[in-house]
Amino acid sequence: MSRYILSLDQGTTSSRAILFDAEQNIVGLAQKEFTQYYPRQGWVEHDPMEIYASQYAVMSEVITQNDVDVRDIAAIGVTNQRETTILWERDTGRPIYNAIVWQCRRTADMIGELLDRGLGETIRGKTGLIPDAYFSGTKIKWILDHVPGTRERAERGEILFGTVDSWLIWRLTDKTVHVTDYTNASRTMLYNIHTLDWDDALLEALDIPRAMLPRVCGSSEVYGYTVLQGTKIPIAGIAGDQQAALFGQGCFEAGDAKNTYGTGCFLLMNTGETACESKNGLLTTIAIGLGGKVQYALEGSVFVGGAVIQWLRDEMRFFNESCDAEYYAQKVKDTGGVYLVPAFTGLGAPYWDMYARGCIMGITRGTKREHLIRAAQESIAYQSLELVEAMERDTGRRISELCVDGGASRDRFLMQFQADILNKQVRRPMIRETTALGAAYLAGLAVGVWSGTEELKSLWRCDVTFEPDMEEPRRAALLAGWRKALDRSRGWADR
Ligand code: G3P
Repeated sequence: MSRYILSLDQGTTSSRAILFDAEQNIVGLAQKEFTQYYPRQGWVEHDPMEIYASQYAVMSEVITQNDVDVRDIAAIGVTNQRETTILWERDTGRPIYNAIVWQCRRTADMIGELLDRGLGETIRGKTGLIPDAYFSGTKIKWILDHVPGTRERAERGEILFGTVDSWLIWRLTDKTVHVTDYTNASRTMLYNIHTLDWDDALLEALDIPRAMLPRVCGSSEVYGYTVLQGTKIPIAGIAGDQQAALFGQGCFEAGDAKNTYGTGCFLLMNTGETACESKNGLLTTIAIGLGGKVQYALEGSVFVGGAVIQWLRDEMRFFNESCDAEYYAQKVKDTGGVYLVPAFTGLGAPYWDMYARGCIMGITRGTKREHLIRAAQESIAYQSLELVEAMERDTGRRISELCVDGGASRDRFLMQFQADILNKQVRRPMIRETTALGAAYLAGLAVGVWSGTEELKSLWRCDVTFEPDMEEPRRAALLAGWRKALDRSRGWADR
């Protein structure tokens, strides 16, 4: 009897492997950060081979360190940073360019051209997305345009495209399986989320050959096998990391919502079988594909969430460990009037300003490092609040409490400030690794470890609830300051 589900969680800054047992306990976890490349201002790349190598390394590590017999692994689930674009040679499996990361702004002008051609509404209607350099479509086009001969080779079927899930599965199945799932496909800006097919008109608009695209599958089924220590293990779950987290939070019904604090912040609300159109700058996307059906979600994406803390750590060298931010933020009673807007790669929802850039406002002679750290922490909560407000306006439903997860949800200061500024309860589950848990759920469901979502729901446990505790005038004043600072960051970069 197989006892474990192995989740591969390939994120923007690290690859993680988490082993769960059937009671959803974490049996082991291994994590490895990998190199971020910033070849030019606003550009972000990863090395696809390093992505794979780091993912493989943590997978091996979690198995050996926990002395797991691989025959006890029932299935593998894959979850991934979404939109990040990789093109590789079908024959050799060699990437033909670095992965262009979701945060990369190099194709902002291409989006401008699509809008000038009047394609904005078409894209919106078919894909549910607001045209932006964030999504894979223009990134694929950029590689096809810039690596000589690639488009012709792609037309001949010699070059394949995949988001990170496809890339990992292609490698793990020894270059035999080229698939993705609905959730990842829905982030490419090439996929029609209503007809559930790649869209020929969009492919034509971006001059992308259909032959290079992966087959789109459900999120919970056996796609293929990987061989570990001579044992064939089914790969049986795929979901983009935000959709995986929604699933891992047990948000199976319309109206259920969660916010994940990772590199970015992503608020998703399940809208069931209805694809809700946003009037407030949110995206319509596929929440999950299960049993031949899809559920949709509304999503608000903030590009820089936890990444602002990494920036303080790595570029400003304010502290050595990300978790130190919580300590420093509490050394001061407030930010001393300082606001930090981390629009490093533009602004996502609800503004969608590709030309916004970061700014720090309100600095005085008395401003200390601790104030800046606190302002950075608070910026994560302010941005999440704007997502919650947009979602409430779009759905007409009041979100009474916010379910949270992701790395930075560990930070008690941040979570308390989030509850205060939202004036809502913030609930953190026992298992904060909900992204990995969601992928494990999907894989486990496909191979019969769990019977269905009812059983999964019964296993969900709350760890702590943060109660709002801020006077309204103070809340209003803080928000007014944030909005003023945010305004200053808009449209800053050259077009
Ligand atoms: O859309 C980008 C998102 O999937 C990245 O997630 O967790 O790597 O910040 P994360």
